[in-house]
Amino acid sequence: MTMKRILTGDRPTGKLHLGHYVGSLRNRIKLQDEYECFFIIADLHTLTTKPEKTGELKENIHQMVLDYLSVGIDPQKATIYIQSQIPEVTELAIIFGNLTTVPRLERMPTLKDVMRDAEIQIPSYGLLGYPVLQAADILMVKGDLVPVGKDQQSHIEVTREIARDFNRTYAPVFPEPDVLVGEVPTLPGTDGASKMSKSKGNVINLSDSAEEVEKKVMSMYTDPTRIKATDPGHVEGNPVFVYLDAFGKESDQAQIAEYKKLYTTGQVGDIEVKKYLVKVLNNFLDPIRKKRAEYEAQPGLMEKVLKGGTEKARKEAQKTLVEVKQAMKLDYFG
Ligand code: TRP
Repeated sequence: MTMKRILTGDRPTGKLHLGHYVGSLRNRIKLQDEYECFFIIADLHTLTTKPEKTGELKENIHQMVLDYLSVGIDPQKATIYIQSQIPEVTELAIIFGNLTTVPRLERMPTLKDVMRDAEIQIPSYGLLGYPVLQAADILMVKGDLVPVGKDQQSHIEVTREIARDFNRTYAPVFPEPDVLVGEVPTLPGTDGASKMSKSKGNVINLSDSAEEVEKKVMSMYTDPTRIKATDPGHVEGNPVFVYLDAFGKESDQAQIAEYKKLYTTGQVGDIEVKKYLVKVLNNFLDPIRKKRAEYEAQPGLMEKVLKGGTEKARKEAQKTLVEVKQAMKLDYFG
């Protein structure tokens, strides 16, 4: 029996943080054992908001893949590849651009969000076509299942529509991929904002040193209604406790429960709980740091992983494109 195929990916915007771990990486580590996984590094998608920042991409890709490997994504199991090195993806995107309408893309909720966040008044052709390029990513490798955050769900819906329309218009080439929306609530930032996000500067990176983690935690936001340690505090929505719940090991659970009790009854100060959180986070991050250092000590490794992954993905892309051109009767030379 062939394994079902997963396709998901990230734009290479820099180092990954704890929010990425909880929101997607943790899930991918599990999925790589159960599915044939393709993880696309969507560098072309970064052009839709930052066409002038291409000089940063190489280093961003390097850091992101180091993060992948350090948390346990295994390049022997999963294919990690770079979008821009597979010209067939862009070719397919051009074809797909004719199977969706401009108003359909203008209605995407993500378009409004991105334009607001990036302070873009008028979208470029490329930004409007973001979901079309994403459909090409997914359908190029005939992904069956696409694990993404809730915000990306509307893009997978467009992918399904394009697959259906292509199959109806030409010939049944594509599966209609299912979306797998993560159940995890988003991790709050160290500033108490609802989402940990690089642009808000409220992140703890997977590659932060023990000292950086300590500094960030000791100055992080807790319960704004609590002035003195003897005031009864709130645990729910308090990022210190959200992080303890997310990153505490089995053996930490009794202590975490005890701190929650003491906190809500005004018997423990923020500083003590934060010091404990520093320990918990560094226990979680230490093995990741160790692996990162091992990978960094192997020059050429990252390039080998990416080249190998890209070659493998490109073969799939070429196969799909032959089928596409046959279906469309564009195979003029046989
Ligand atoms: N748009 C996705 C994001 O911003 C990244 C991405 C690009 C992607 N291509 C993809 C995700 C294909 C899933 C499948 O998070």
